[in-house]
Amino acid sequence: MNLKHHNLVPDNLDAFWMPFSGQRQFKEDPRFIVSAKGMYYTDSQGHETLDGSAGLWCVNAGHHREHINAAIAHQLESLDFAHSFNSGHPLAFQYASRLVKHVPDPLNHVFFTNSGSESVDTALKIALAYHRRNGEAGRQRLIGREKGYHGMGFGGLSVGGLVKNRNPFGLLLPGTDHMRQTHGLAGNRFARGLPPEGAELAMDLQRLVELHGADAIAAVIVEPIGGAGGVHLPPVGYLQRLRELCDEHGILLIFDEVITGFGRTGACTAAERFGVVPDIMTTAKGITNATIPMGGVFVSDAIFERFMDTDVPGVELSHGYTYSGHPVACAAGMATLDIYEQEGLFERPKALQDTWQDAALRLSDLPNVIDVRCFALLGAIELAPLDGAPMQRGAAVAKRCYEKGAWVRPIGDSLVLSPPLIISEAEIERIFEIIGEAICEIG
Ligand SMILES: Cc1ncc(COP(=O)(O)O)c(C=O)c1O
Repeated sequence: MNLKHHNLVPDNLDAFWMPFSGQRQFKEDPRFIVSAKGMYYTDSQGHETLDGSAGLWCVNAGHHREHINAAIAHQLESLDFAHSFNSGHPLAFQYASRLVKHVPDPLNHVFFTNSGSESVDTALKIALAYHRRNGEAGRQRLIGREKGYHGMGFGGLSVGGLVKNRNPFGLLLPGTDHMRQTHGLAGNRFARGLPPEGAELAMDLQRLVELHGADAIAAVIVEPIGGAGGVHLPPVGYLQRLRELCDEHGILLIFDEVITGFGRTGACTAAERFGVVPDIMTTAKGITNATIPMGGVFVSDAIFERFMDTDVPGVELSHGYTYSGHPVACAAGMATLDIYEQEGLFERPKALQDTWQDAALRLSDLPNVIDVRCFALLGAIELAPLDGAPMQRGAAVAKRCYEKGAWVRPIGDSLVLSPPLIISEAEIERIFEIIGEAICEIG
């Protein structure tokens, strides 16, 4: 326990407008996290909790990794910042070369961003600009999926499919549309691993092709496993069908791997785990183990070459961020990759999958549990909503879990799980044991 921070409780809570929070309630009974190490968080009361969420699906190598911290400190000693606009520092190139070796061919080029939202907006813009370069400027429609989450930039929000996020902000981007969601088929409840039913839902893209015309569609973006919507797994064969349809119609396929990237599914990427390679892949979060904000958009050789294949001098893509390829983020990312590689963390969720699924599915018969979804080191325990009060049962159970020593995140009435990949079998058992007790206690 890190005692030195334990009296560090702020006296003014008004200045910070908290993201995605019910901050009036939070501020009535605030909880302050003051330190973290390995699998555990410690709050200002000295209470320790097992981290069931890897922060926000991002601290894949566990907390307080000395090697990453040292790399960050070392980088700050030599080069704190240099931009990459018609300029360069070696680390960004070295890091990019190393990163692309971890993602499937032909995704051999990476555009650096600072977050998942920026990665998504970058990917959508690359798709639009690619078609224009290809002489197909009419391909302007961007297709997402109901219940999808692609961050909070205007592009990502427009292709996203969560009504609460979209509603406050009006019309959003014109020219977007959404495939039907894949969640909720009765035959998929309590499935062990990927749901068996629903591959045909990929044909919903065909419906949109028939509605808009294939030559009006630039790209389709999906999360290979939906995360922030409540952990929605792809039906067996669904992603393959989507790939085939995109090929048939000249539509670019974008996988949003902001959550699934960097080991979550038992391979570096879900594309690798599922054997379906998109044209563009967005990442962030686990890329630096969440120590320094960073994201990366991986693109295929064909897309990259389309931009480079020109005699016109100057900027090939008028897009970028001040901090694209920030040297400190690159240093953090390099050190994070060292850990992933040396500790074999990308393979670990596959090795732990049986233990994970056994422990999760053991909760199936508890009162009010209406679904359990589990794959690799991702999961959701879905509870029946209280009559007339959706989300309250989920929130109450999550609160009780916290008191009992496990920090799990409620999304609606689902408790979603994505622990650091360093989790032990005993810690897996412990997290589900706590959830089970909390469900029974709250009722
Ligand atoms: C699939 C997906 N895309 C994009 C984002 C947005 O990432 P950020 O919050 O870093 O902007 C998230 C965040 O959870 C995500 O889950």
